[in-house]
Amino acid sequence: MLVLGLQGSPRKKGNTNYLISAFMDAAQKSGARTEMIDVTKKNIIPCKEYTVCEKKGFCPIDDDVRDEIYPLLRQADVVVMATPIFFYNMSAQLKAVVDRCQTFWARKYKLKLTDPGAKMRRGFLLSVGATKGKNLFEGLHLTTQYFFDAIGAKFEGSLTYRGIEGPNEMAAHPTVLQDVDQAVSRILEPFQGRKKVLFACRENACRSQMASAFAQSLAGDRLEVVNGGSQPAEQVNPDMVSVMHEKGIDMGFRSPQSIDLAISHVKPDLIVTMGCAEECPVVPGAQRQDWALQDPAAEPIEVMRQVRDDIEKRVTDLINAIAIESSNNS
Ligand SMILES: Cc1cc2nc3c(=O)[nH]c(=O)nc-3n(C[C@H](O)[C@H](O)[C@H](O)COP(=O)(O)O)c2cc1C
Repeated sequence: MLVLGLQGSPRKKGNTNYLISAFMDAAQKSGARTEMIDVTKKNIIPCKEYTVCEKKGFCPIDDDVRDEIYPLLRQADVVVMATPIFFYNMSAQLKAVVDRCQTFWARKYKLKLTDPGAKMRRGFLLSVGATKGKNLFEGLHLTTQYFFDAIGAKFEGSLTYRGIEGPNEMAAHPTVLQDVDQAVSRILEPFQGRKKVLFACRENACRSQMASAFAQSLAGDRLEVVNGGSQPAEQVNPDMVSVMHEKGIDMGFRSPQSIDLAISHVKPDLIVTMGCAEECPVVPGAQRQDWALQDPAAEPIEVMRQVRDDIEKRVTDLINAIAIESSNNS
């Protein structure tokens, strides 16, 4: 499981940084893979309201949001947003990221696409402010709520601290580490103990991408799903993206990856191969099954549709078989 942190304070070694680092350390100790983006050090251009995203579902601005942050937001199981209060809201650097997520809003609400990861993704907020007023975090909470909705994450709550001003004050707080530990165990709990399934094909551009999206959409609460290819292509297949969009499933911001990289993140209990059986690495202890599926890559789009429907049925059968197996074992 991937926990993505967005660090929004420009102050070096400040309070926000302390808080999110503690959160990421606790998540790592609980078995999560973590990635922290310091948004104040990235090349982030604020939204220019080109509105291309509302028609086409992508943002034409070429920066680190497009190349790094969009794909990570899609891969993340948990997104943690951390910011100091600046004038009753988040820092401008973090707000620029939030505004650029209008692209996700447009894909969800204008183009009516559902991100398969949204079934399980959780969002959490960390914040500090110098004053002690009752309304200190209200503006931030509202912005955060709409941000998490746009990126397809359930807003799971926040840790917010008033009266924190000097750079080292958060570290001196008497209960912060305990608060963080409790929050991390609560948020990660639904992700623990899921059966881990790797879907693998040759290029990780069509079949294994579709299989993992169906598995996530249908059973993300029971399965931790990864995918990879023995010879990953440069990009996912555009016809595959189109036929999945016909089913309302959003395949945006995905890139093929190698099987080795996939299993370095998640050690699978089950490997499903589709056209790469002999090239797939052997993972000790993992069950294995091979699905005889035609490679639709160079075929007319109608073949892609047939393979998509075949994969959907096989994934449904697999989920049912896993459910029966686990009820027999319990
Ligand atoms: C531009 C700016 C605006 C701020 N606005 C507020 C505010 O509206 N309310 C408040 O309580 N603190 C405000 N603060 C104080 C910071 O929230 C506080 O010092 C915080 O601990 C800084 O966290 P950091 O070390 O993670 O940057 C502001 C600070 C700056 C620099």
